[in-house]
Amino acid sequence: MIRRQYWRLHHIFRLALMSVLTLGAARVVLDGLRNNLEWRDHKTARVPIEVYKEEIIEDGCNVFEGRWVWDNVSYPLYREDKCPFLVKQTTCVKNGRPDSLYQNWRWQPNACNLPRFDGSKLMEMLRDKRLMFVGDSIQRGMFESMICLVQSAIPSTGKTSLQRIPPRKVFKVEEFNASIEYYWAPFIIESISDHATNHTVSKRLVKLDSVAKHGREWSGVDILIFESYVWWMYKPVINATYGSTGKLQEYNVTTAYRLALETWANWIESSINPVTQKIFFMTMSPTHLWSWEWKPGTDGNCFNEAHPIERAYWGTGSNLDIMGIVQDVIRQLKVNVRVLNITQLSEFRKDGHTSVFGERKGKLLTREQRSDPKNFADCIHWCLPGVPDIWNEILYAILLQDYRAQR
Ligand SMILES: *[C@@H]1O[C@H](CO)[C@@H](O)[C@H](O)[C@H]1NC(C)=O
Ligand SMILES: *[C@@H]1O[C@H](CO)[C@@H](O)[C@H](O)[C@H]1NC(C)=O
Ligand SMILES: *[C@@H]1O[C@H](CO)[C@@H](O)[C@H](O)[C@H]1NC(C)=O
Ligand SMILES: *[C@@H]1O[C@H](CO)[C@@H](O)[C@H](O)[C@H]1NC(C)=O
Ligand SMILES: *[C@@H]1O[C@H](CO)[C@@H](O)[C@H](O)[C@H]1NC(C)=O
Ligand SMILES: *[C@@H]1O[C@H](CO)[C@@H](O)[C@H](O)[C@H]1NC(C)=O
Repeated sequence: MIRRQYWRLHHIFRLALMSVLTLGAARVVLDGLRNNLEWRDHKTARVPIEVYKEEIIEDGCNVFEGRWVWDNVSYPLYREDKCPFLVKQTTCVKNGRPDSLYQNWRWQPNACNLPRFDGSKLMEMLRDKRLMFVGDSIQRGMFESMICLVQSAIPSTGKTSLQRIPPRKVFKVEEFNASIEYYWAPFIIESISDHATNHTVSKRLVKLDSVAKHGREWSGVDILIFESYVWWMYKPVINATYGSTGKLQEYNVTTAYRLALETWANWIESSINPVTQKIFFMTMSPTHLWSWEWKPGTDGNCFNEAHPIERAYWGTGSNLDIMGIVQDVIRQLKVNVRVLNITQLSEFRKDGHTSVFGERKGKLLTREQRSDPKNFADCIHWCLPGVPDIWNEILYAILLQDYRAQR
């Protein structure tokens, strides 16, 4: 029985993944048409930042434990139509989503408060530094959220630019000589899916012992945030090479994931200077593919969901074996890697996905496709403004705490 359900889950997961993770040539063309460089003119003076007591996370407070609170006064933190950097995959309202309630929720930890995101403080902390998000399209959403947060909070901080240099995207704030970057590496380690636009989830081949090529691009970056999950979950086995023989073999995904993270961990230990560099690992972003999980008896997905789940909830899409591997590998590392454990808090947000107001193969859904949410809803990616903004607020809170501790 359990086994049957496992296969059913895997089967559906697989179809759902195939439908949203295949990026076609259309995307390449459209991205290319957008302005490659956008400049804005501003000026500011250098000001040392002041960190107030109430902006510090109290000792022992687990910011990942809490609840969502309705707050349509402070949220969203920026406006969808005012952020020039959002790609159409995430602009749900513009794409026709009738409600925007998903933009109005604040995350309230049980044991403390999160400081309000302050883009100019973040910029001061990032002066002469680089911050880089590494991972798949979920991480790209977090990156876009971050640059929208910064752009909207500091309209007067000097020239900003966004450059696309595949597999990287680089956002620069000239006044601060700071950059916020994104690096496409859906498996973290090397794979045949590393081309920024020409890749498909149905043909996967990972090189479980290779990370050097990516590592060269990450080296020296001051703050690195890694994430990788959903690409692994297309099938229970994955084609991979490992070791000197270079022989191609099918591996259980859990075995492969562990080997991959160990390869990454070795890179971290041999390449990171823990005095000057900070490393974060973000846990899996949950999916909401099966409504029977939160509404027994139904047969839908995240489509039409307009409210967070308000009771204890963990979906079967968030694999506990993978979670355990992340925990094990990071615990054994000699370098301090901090876990951004956003899985549980995002599990509640069945309302936050792009659903039918996103794209497939680089194109917005057609009217016909939209009327068929069963086959076309994307319950993996998130609308912006939305849930990824809160991931960034938490990251900001931790960086602010570090900053104060250093003085
Ligand atoms: C904010 O939410 C409250 C409670 O749901 C509602 O009465 C009010 O109209 C909302 N305000 C705005 C600006 O949407
Ligand atoms: C600008 O930042 C980079 C790192 O991002 C650093 O290497 C460089 O020294 C900085 N430039 C100045 C003038 O401080
Ligand atoms: C995408 O990659 C495949 C295999 O590497 C190649 O055959 C194809 O020509 C590429 N397509 C584009 C548009 O670059
Ligand atoms: C692994 O590759 C072989 C040969 O290309 C293919 O037949 C098989 O279906 C692949 N397995 C997976 C899990 O993709
Ligand atoms: C792969 O997974 C299957 C099913 O979970 C398990 O029976 C098998 O022992 C695993 N193989 C390895 C090499 O871990
Ligand atoms: C993340 O939090 C969940 C509880 O929400 C916990 O079960 C899991 O072990 C944590 N993961 C890591 C890597 O710390």
